[in-house]
Amino acid sequence: MAPADIAPETVGEVVAAVLQGAKYASVDAALIAALASQELAKGRKPKDAIKEVKSRLHQSVAAYHAGRPDFAAWRERLAQTTGDEPLRAACREVMAMHHSTRERLPSLDTFYATVLGDLSGVRTVLDLGCGLNPLALPWMGLPATATYLACDVDHAQMALLGWWLDFQQQPGRAFVCNLLDGAPHTEDPVDVALLLKIVPCLEQQDRRLAERLLDQLNARVLVISFPAQSLGGRRKGMVDTYARRMDELLAGRPWRVDRFDFPSEVVFRLFTEQAHE
Ligand SMILES: C[S@@+](CC[C@H](N)C(=O)[O-])C[C@H]1O[C@@H](n2cnc3c(N)ncnc32)[C@H](O)[C@@H]1O
Repeated sequence: MAPADIAPETVGEVVAAVLQGAKYASVDAALIAALASQELAKGRKPKDAIKEVKSRLHQSVAAYHAGRPDFAAWRERLAQTTGDEPLRAACREVMAMHHSTRERLPSLDTFYATVLGDLSGVRTVLDLGCGLNPLALPWMGLPATATYLACDVDHAQMALLGWWLDFQQQPGRAFVCNLLDGAPHTEDPVDVALLLKIVPCLEQQDRRLAERLLDQLNARVLVISFPAQSLGGRRKGMVDTYARRMDELLAGRPWRVDRFDFPSEVVFRLFTEQAHE
């Protein structure tokens, strides 16, 4: 059966059950519904679909958090801090609570300087599946007038990040977006789209998703990265595997590509055709 043929009330039943638990209460219902439809389409009973959806949400969203996120406490920590260095220290502390940003912390002082430092005229950044990465704003070296658009699937997390952008007086917004539904619409092309360590995660949800995003995203520069190690810390040839995946994704796209290797992450920077206009 195709996911679209599943009765909406059965999907609704699974979504309601998943949202009931505190762990997924603020996750975007559209993502839960999409995963529920996929699981029900495999012929699973609602009870089994609920279990599978929770397990997949754990893998692609919750497993990155070091414990239950305390967005209110993090906001308080950031809000109470003044001065550039103390604020950077507070940002590091909070970023350490999400595995993805935590892995990047040892390279943070060079990461954005390397990846964005030589790009001129960056007026808009779109951070897809952002996790807590917007807290790295103090390291990004963006113009104070640049618009930062951040999206992910958790309402409470995006509320914190929306507050953070205001607190930093950085124009932009943080919003909930399920990338299974495609790239978020932006009025104008963006200068830089960040897809940091999200491709493996998204491809577990839909094998063709990264390909579709590359077609849909209207960005001058795409920054796509892959983890160099698993969440458990094993490296097992991951960089080579992901470099081959990147080659596949780039087939037929005549874009200039730069590659940067950091200890925890390999980064590909793609200059799309718009960059050469
Ligand atoms: C490996 S983490 C990367 C976080 C961040 N980009 C970074 O590198 O620090 C993957 C992120 O993708 C988000 N995610 C998973 N599925 C998603 C979906 N369907 N749409 C949007 N974001 C999603 C997760 O919530 C998580 O924050």
